[in-house]
Amino acid sequence: MPAKSKTVYLCSQCGFESPKWYGKCPSCGEWNTLNEEFRVPEKAASAERRGASASISSKIGDISPTGEKRYKTGLKELDRVLGGGIVHGALMLIGGDPGIGKSTLLLQICQHLGKALKILYVSGEESARQIKLRADRLQVHSDNLYVLCETDMETVLEHFRSDAPDLVIIDSIQTMNLAGVASSSGSVAQVRECTNAIMHVAKGADIPVFIVGHVNKDGAIAGPKVMEHIVDCVLHFEGDRNTSYRILRCVKNRYGSTNEIGVFEMRDQGLREVENASKMLLDGRPTNVSGTCVACIMEGTRPLLAEVQGLVSPTGFGNPRRMATGFDYNRLSLLLAVLEKRGGYYFSNLDAYVNVVGGLRLDEPAADLPVALSLISSLKDKALGDDVVAFGEIGLAGEIRSVTNAENRINEAVRMGFQKIVLPYHNLRTLPKRDGVKLIGVKMLRDAYEALG
Ligand code: TYD
Ligand code: MG
Repeated sequence: MPAKSKTVYLCSQCGFESPKWYGKCPSCGEWNTLNEEFRVPEKAASAERRGASASISSKIGDISPTGEKRYKTGLKELDRVLGGGIVHGALMLIGGDPGIGKSTLLLQICQHLGKALKILYVSGEESARQIKLRADRLQVHSDNLYVLCETDMETVLEHFRSDAPDLVIIDSIQTMNLAGVASSSGSVAQVRECTNAIMHVAKGADIPVFIVGHVNKDGAIAGPKVMEHIVDCVLHFEGDRNTSYRILRCVKNRYGSTNEIGVFEMRDQGLREVENASKMLLDGRPTNVSGTCVACIMEGTRPLLAEVQGLVSPTGFGNPRRMATGFDYNRLSLLLAVLEKRGGYYFSNLDAYVNVVGGLRLDEPAADLPVALSLISSLKDKALGDDVVAFGEIGLAGEIRSVTNAENRINEAVRMGFQKIVLPYHNLRTLPKRDGVKLIGVKMLRDAYEALG
């Protein structure tokens, strides 16, 4: 007798499950995210799980440490983000907006990985012809790359066993469909059960798997959020679609640090690694112009230089406008208040705009000082100098507070040929003296601009 299906409501944001519908998810607080799903009590996935799991415990000393051998992807930036390459049996999720380059990145690494590994590329989105066209463009012609256009999860898992691949790419999890789950592809239940099913087969056979997951803001399709605790690594591919730079960020990694980022540039022939990201971000910088300042921020363990531009102009009528691109709007309001109250720079009848060049987002407190300096420079209509880099957090009392990794930041600035570095005084105290570069330690915001004068 077929098992009776039961109606449950699942939140598409956090995966919260409830027997009753709510307008607002009681778990994550999002509105209108609970969707009706049908559940068959005995699921194919869970039956498989029971069969696959080994039920003996072993001493930790007896477990052979095979985890350290990693496959290199041929892209150093990606290897670094993964913590040194692909670990055997790892489940890696790549999330990102549609069209950002997830499929491109994964197809591209097949050329290098295909030299030694047998790769199965499963696509539920594109036809084999489309993949071939893209592969030609990316110059991927490995003999070890097998393409499977399929959306049925059971069939895909069957190929895991019959083809015995060394690496599998699933593009994308939202298109996969497990017959035992009575809801449509892309629903939370499908995504979760498919990921679970992949995990049990992949871990059993020690096959690393890349899973592509779409991020969708409206919540109709399950975001990769529900998979995040199942997989070993979660990578986010970000970038402004209008610019060609892409940043790969690691938000979860069971085999390495989560602080690393990789920088890529989307070209005609696919993604290209950007090793010197600071140079790329500073390219085409105007010289001797007021309202710009170079910031030195940390992206993970890597220092990056980015240009911050500030512009102030008289308000036409009504309230002054404030706008920030690549910088937090509220933080900008706060900085303007501190500039007025503690620094004596008046912006109350001026519009103020801040823009970070290159589509980068400066979320780090160390970006406060360069933002403030660019605004003061625009207010005074006086250039700060082309060889100036600044970093430091600004407190509400108008003090410049110390930040982490001061030495790395200085090294990066010096490497890029900057000669004047404005930094928190408390950082300067702990640093050795350096030749050929002027380190300007400042205690208070009002001294920072004058110190450059
Ligand atoms: P894609 O990898 O299909 O995105 P996703 O899988 O994340 O949805 O990337 C598509 C975009 O990348 C598309 O807008 C075109 C661009 N692109 C290039 O600029 N150069 C290339 O060589 C390729 C293959 C794609
Ligand atoms: Mg794609």
